[in-house]
Amino acid sequence: MNHKQALEHNIFKVISQSAKELNLDSYVIGGFVRDFILQRGSAKDIDVVTVGDGIKLAKQVAKNLPNKPKVQVFKTYGTAMLRYDDIEIEFVGARKESYDENSRNPAVENGTLEDDQNRRDFTINALALNLNEDEFGNLLDPFGGIQDLENKIIRTPLDPDITYSDDPLRMMRAIRFATQLGFRIEDESLNAITRNSHRIEIITKERIIVELNKILESDKPSIGFLLLEKTGLLPYILPELMALKGIDEVEGQRHKDNFYHTLEVVDNIAENTDNLWLRWAALLHDIGKAPTKKFSKKVGWTFHGHEFEGSKMVYRLFKRLKMPLNDKMKFVQKMVFMSSRPIVLAQDIVTDSAVRRLIFDAGDFVEDLMTLCEADITTKNPKKFQKYHNNFKIVRQKIVEVEERDHVRNFQPPISGEEIMETFNLKPSKEIGIIKETIKEAILEGEIPNEYEAAYNLMLQKGEKLGLIAINK
Ligand code: CTP
Repeated sequence: MNHKQALEHNIFKVISQSAKELNLDSYVIGGFVRDFILQRGSAKDIDVVTVGDGIKLAKQVAKNLPNKPKVQVFKTYGTAMLRYDDIEIEFVGARKESYDENSRNPAVENGTLEDDQNRRDFTINALALNLNEDEFGNLLDPFGGIQDLENKIIRTPLDPDITYSDDPLRMMRAIRFATQLGFRIEDESLNAITRNSHRIEIITKERIIVELNKILESDKPSIGFLLLEKTGLLPYILPELMALKGIDEVEGQRHKDNFYHTLEVVDNIAENTDNLWLRWAALLHDIGKAPTKKFSKKVGWTFHGHEFEGSKMVYRLFKRLKMPLNDKMKFVQKMVFMSSRPIVLAQDIVTDSAVRRLIFDAGDFVEDLMTLCEADITTKNPKKFQKYHNNFKIVRQKIVEVEERDHVRNFQPPISGEEIMETFNLKPSKEIGIIKETIKEAILEGEIPNEYEAAYNLMLQKGEKLGLIAINK
């Protein structure tokens, strides 16, 4: 089979020529070939394997390219990388690898192309295109990768127990590819993942998160989370989600299964946003429900304060998984903390003051919060579903109107503490806080407009009530 079309870019000719000059065989392998056949758009990462010294080939290619790019050498891995025309090309010598039981540091030996294909993760990632001049563009598919692409199957080239135990991250990769591509993991492989799930513990959190993020960024993330749960990987990675699974029943009263509910919410939000952190917020919005769950005869099941508890858990979870503890984490915390606010609004008549408070508390993230809360509507009762969505439409409309009029999104008090001190000749004291709070509350309640003069008058009134004397009215 000839796949010359994949190799139209002039870089491939240059690699082919350079390899010939060094008397080496070279091949394009892995994701680039897979994505070309799947027509997933042209990939910006190209992996090149040579039977020989990959670093030497990279240097020769750089020499033959018009802009003479810099070659980045990774000595410990025996690989080299260069950038050309927005493309990242990685060079590696064909290897035969055997892995240490307790780490993923491989003992590397030089090998043939076939050896190299053998040690790759999946048949669909072991496809190679020949770059040698006389066989340029010929496909090398020793494990039926093409057929697996057609049948949408994830399968390992070797016995799956060996492939997964060589690098346990591949268990996550299998699930990630199944989610991204809508493929099925063949049964033998799935069983091997289940058997080896505990081995995920030797993998660094950073590498796990890369895969988890790719699952979350897919069109239907629930596919991946259901597989993580089914194979027993989830408890090692996100025990907080596992804890949401199950339905308790006391005296005939049941609560919903918050694990499956969460996955529905994540799928819903994936239809409306590509913001990875908003998707994380959807995934974690109910995690506080497990530790706050209570049953009482009077009111049945409750999860009081789960939003606050959940937002504290977000910090611990991000820390454990070595995720960034920056504004992204704070954003997720805020979304989790506020995740019930709009739904309470939407169940009732939507008042201006409630909307003003929502904008005040959510600030710039009020639209994101609305997107999260709309995704949270998973009721199977069509009447309720319609009602909530309609109410959310009203809320969204009111957000625009109220914000236009009152500007409370990034609320700056119209009267500063300084001015209060000057007006009443005060030293820093609690009265200043009381007056400021009174003005803020009056604005949010709609009792006065968010304007200087009205706020000034209210300051005088409140000051008088507190027994203060204005010195310069
Ligand atoms: N690979 C592997 N085992 C891993 C990681 C990677 O065998 N744990 C091999 C696969 O052949 C893969 C190639 O290395 O195709 C390149 O890996 P990577 O760039 O991580 O993935 P891609 O397959 O290119 O896919 P994507 O770009 O979607 O991550």
